[in-house]
Formats: sequence, structure tokens, C-alpha cells
Amino acid sequence: MADDTVMQPAYWQIEPSLVTLQLERHVMTAQSPFLLSPDQTGLTRAADILARGGLVSFPTETVYGLGADARNDRAVAAIFAAKGRPSFNPLIVHLGGLVAAQAICDFNDDARRLATAFWPGALTLVLPLRADTGISRLVTAGLDSVAVRVPDHPVAAGLLAAFGGPVAAPSANPSGRISPTTAAHVRDGLGDRIDAVVDGGPCHVGLESTIVSCLGTPTLLRAGGIPAEAIAACLGHTLTTAENPDAPTSPGQLLSHYAPQGQVRLNATQVRPGEVMLGFGPVQGDLTLSANGDLTEAAARLFDCLHQLDAMGAAQIAIAPIPDHGLGRAINDRLKRAAAPR
Ligand code: TXA
Ligand code: MG
Repeated sequence: MADDTVMQPAYWQIEPSLVTLQLERHVMTAQSPFLLSPDQTGLTRAADILARGGLVSFPTETVYGLGADARNDRAVAAIFAAKGRPSFNPLIVHLGGLVAAQAICDFNDDARRLATAFWPGALTLVLPLRADTGISRLVTAGLDSVAVRVPDHPVAAGLLAAFGGPVAAPSANPSGRISPTTAAHVRDGLGDRIDAVVDGGPCHVGLESTIVSCLGTPTLLRAGGIPAEAIAACLGHTLTTAENPDAPTSPGQLLSHYAPQGQVRLNATQVRPGEVMLGFGPVQGDLTLSANGDLTEAAARLFDCLHQLDAMGAAQIAIAPIPDHGLGRAINDRLKRAAAPR
């Protein structure tokens, strides 16, 4: 497996505080304070786990993230190990605000304009990494750029404030699987591999952030929770798109991703024998992304519907056509990857 190069260190190779944490991990899974409440007590506990090099999943407005101290190599390596993430696909650094982001990367005019317009929110900016920030080289996969985002969720903001440092966080799912939009999705996918999940209920956007590189001409690296049209409007010109899955500029843009267990057929207007149908608008299904064709609702429900199809044991999945504008573009991006050959 691709992640074999990143292993959890043996207990005797790590600091005493981490041994305690590893031991607590077992106690926690047995007694189940594994799920932390989204109040000050839970956030203080979560921040403490991060400070000691542990892994905490937390809600953002997009999806649940799997957080670690972005300055701690070992903690960041544990993210890759827990997810089985191909080594080394760089991670997004989550920060409490623009000032904290400016401490680790350089903002040009475009980046400043986008951050001012969309932060906190579902926009990730790829920017030049500053020198001597303390950010682990594993976070950036050794690149001289870094992806940064200020999440728009009270629990994420509360955790970042309580921790007081940069938090590296990919989506909290096993690599290649469906992203989590509830604490239960996280527990089902990564339960015994992480220290805790702060349960903040379902994520209201439901799709990962839009990623824009501002290293040169602003370029869309991943469609996501903020429509590309809104970003182009803010910049005052169209956004270059870099979506070539064979040579991904954003290494996470691998073709097979977000995959449910079953085979996926897209743009289906009628169900075939043996298929479970995921509907949208006028195309009815066994379940629907949005009965009245609302793209915002469809985005928020997408990953939960895919998780439900897995839970139903659906082997053949037909999915209704989704209009390819606004959030529909990000939905279609995820669906195309869910349907890609594996
Ligand atoms: O909404 C989100 O963005 C969620 C929540 C938790 O914030 N996070 C998320 O992270 O989706 P992840 O790891 O699943 O996706 C991060 C993406 C990957 O495609 C990665 O390749 C890209 O960001 N990325 C990170 N650093 C980069 C860099 N320096 N240059 C280009 N792409 C980068
Ligand atoms: Mg992901």
C-alpha cells in the first residue's frame, strides 16, 4: 500500500506524554468519551489532545476534518497513517483568521481580495510558504507553497482559538472513500485510528472547499463549496482551470476518489434492474439529493446519500443528471470521481 512508508512510531520511540495519549486512546474508545461535545469542555479537551500530538476530528462548514498540530511532524505523519493517504499528498492548514494565515504565507492582491471576500468560508488558497514558519514539511509535501483556509464553523473556530496554532486537516475519511459530513461517518470510517471526534452535527455545505492557487494567475485547483463563478466575479476576470486528473496540480485531484462501494452510473434518467437510484429534481429515486432540484441542498446531502447507499449495500448505483453550474460543478466533480474505474 502507498501509505506503508508512514508508520505510527512504536511506543518506546515516542515521548512519555504521547505514550499516555496512546494509552488513553484505548480507554477512550472503550468508554467512549471518544465523541466530544461541541462546548467549551469538549473544545478544551480537543485542544489538549492536539497539543499533545494527537488526532482530533472536528466539524467545519464543508466536511469533518482530521486535525493535527501542523507544526508537529509526528502528529502530521499520524494523519497520513490513519487515512491510508498516499504519501505525501499535501494538507490544508486551518487557521483562525487572515492575520494568522499571513504569518505562514505571502498574500498578493488577488489572494487578499479573495480572503477578504470569502473568509471565513469554503475557500482554500494556495500561496507561497514563508520561511521559518515551523509548519511541518509533511504538511506541504515538501512544496514551497501551502494551502490555507479559515473555516466558517463555530466549533472549528472555537477549536482553533482554544488550540491557538495552525491545524493541518484533510477530510476525516479513509483515503479514496466518501468524505464525512457527520460525526457518525467519521466514527464508522476511522473510529479506532484517531483520538476523538468533536460532534458538531451535520456539515451545512457538505462539499469540500474550493481550492484556488494564487501562485500565479489565480487558478481553480478543485471545485467546491464556493462556486467558481463567485470567485471569478470577485476577481473581475475568469478563473483559469487546472483539472487534469492525469497530471494533477492539486495532488488530491486523483480520478478515483469519493468512492462508494457500489458501481456508479451517471446521468441516469431511468433506473435499470438491480440498480439503486439516487434522484435529483424531476428524476425520482430510492433516495434523492434534492426533490425540488436545489443545488445547495444537493451539495449538503451528497456525501450522506453516498454513505447511505453504502449502508444499504447498493452494488449498482444510478445517479440522476445534475446541472453543471454553481455548486452543481463541484457535485459533478465528486460524482465523476465516484464513478471512475478503480
Ligand atoms: O473543505 C475542505 O477543504 C476540507 C476541510 C476539512 O477543510 N479539507 C479537505 O482536505 O478537503 P483534503 O486533504 O481532503 O484536500 C486537500 C487538497 C488536496 O487535493 C491537496 O492536494 C490540495 O488540497 N493541496 C494542499 N496543499 C497544496 C499545495 N501546496 N498545492 C496544491 N494543492 C494542495
Ligand atoms: Mg479529502
